[in-house]
Amino acid sequence: MSRPVRIALIPGDGVGGEVMAEAVPCLDWAVARGRCLEAVPLPYGAEHYLATGETLPEHAFTTLRDGCDAVLFGAVGDPRIPDGRHAEQILLRLRRELELAVNFRPCRPLAPGFDPAINLEIYRENTEGPYCLQGTTEPGRAVDYAIHTEPAVHRLLACAFQRAAVLGRPLLLAHKANVLKHGHGLWLRVYADLKAQFPTVDARTMHADALLCALVQDPKAFGIIAADNYLGDLISDLTAAYVGGMGMAPSLSWAPHRPFRCAALAEPVHGSAPDIAGQGLANPVGMFLSLALLFRHLGWEPEATALEAAVGEALHAGFRTRDLGGTHGTSEMGKAVRSQLPT
Ligand code: NAD
Ligand code: IPM
Ligand code: MN
Repeated sequence: MSRPVRIALIPGDGVGGEVMAEAVPCLDWAVARGRCLEAVPLPYGAEHYLATGETLPEHAFTTLRDGCDAVLFGAVGDPRIPDGRHAEQILLRLRRELELAVNFRPCRPLAPGFDPAINLEIYRENTEGPYCLQGTTEPGRAVDYAIHTEPAVHRLLACAFQRAAVLGRPLLLAHKANVLKHGHGLWLRVYADLKAQFPTVDARTMHADALLCALVQDPKAFGIIAADNYLGDLISDLTAAYVGGMGMAPSLSWAPHRPFRCAALAEPVHGSAPDIAGQGLANPVGMFLSLALLFRHLGWEPEATALEAAVGEALHAGFRTRDLGGTHGTSEMGKAVRSQLPT
């Protein structure tokens, strides 16, 4: 028998735990269908940090990196830790040190009232740019560096080009090379090399500011959008509005070159939502859809498709949390989705 797929569960902070609790039974469902997996719950987040001073201890990082295949993540961020150091040392460290350069953020409306003809995918570089977290604050002057390296940019853009080629969809690279001459200059060079290697892909580049206007005016015109870490973060929050808001948008990060056993991380696009945390109001859909992306990444296509269909059916049956104008709580929404799963 093959070894079980080990999935680390990090609920994190705020609504992270609430949406994670709804998704975890889907792992049991996958097991009941014959999938061989083992969940590894990990306690790291604000509560653990405030109680112990530990963010992500070395032994946990090593176990995760070498002893797990993937991470399912809730959210991090806590008003009691205003400098966000635990978020840096847990989430951003995992993205960076597991070399999860590709962050995939699809935008496909499923809820009634949102335009189902929109179908775009964001490929966000996930480890570099200003997320190198290097800089200085001096009196009257502050500096944030942004680092871009050819291997990470190439990994991201190669995935985006491959995807565009397979789907036969247009590819757009968002950039600001008119200002960020060094960093985004590198992006344009790597892009030009890949464009020559993928002659069938309808690829172009656009200044990110102009792109945002076009994206609001005509989202249906877009297919694959590639961007660096910072622009991709902003663009994916904008496109979350097309699916119903922050609570609805999923993401999956992976390392195409698989440097470690742990080479994937699924997490909703939203954060810990301190304004609604602890009230049972959070929408678990972004988390369900992130788990579906992970199932697909693991090669479990029937489970991925069934979970996405279950979300669509629950929404079409009228189940909606407050962010979508409904009255259902997190656990009612979660049950509604799970009740649509086939046995
Ligand atoms: P946020 O995504 O937490 O919240 C933005 C808005 O969306 C809020 O009004 C919130 O109530 C709403 N929202 C978010 N998730 C929702 C859900 N599941 N259901 C319904 N509504 C939802 O962003 P923020 O307020 O800018 O950040 C809060 C904290 O989260 C900060 O500490 C931030 O750094 C962190 N954050 C973490 C992640 C992550 O862990 N991946 C992502 C974004 C923000
Ligand atoms: C996201 C979040 C994170 C990011 C924060 C929490 C650091 O906004 O996953 O989109 O900026 O990447
Ligand atoms: Mn974000």
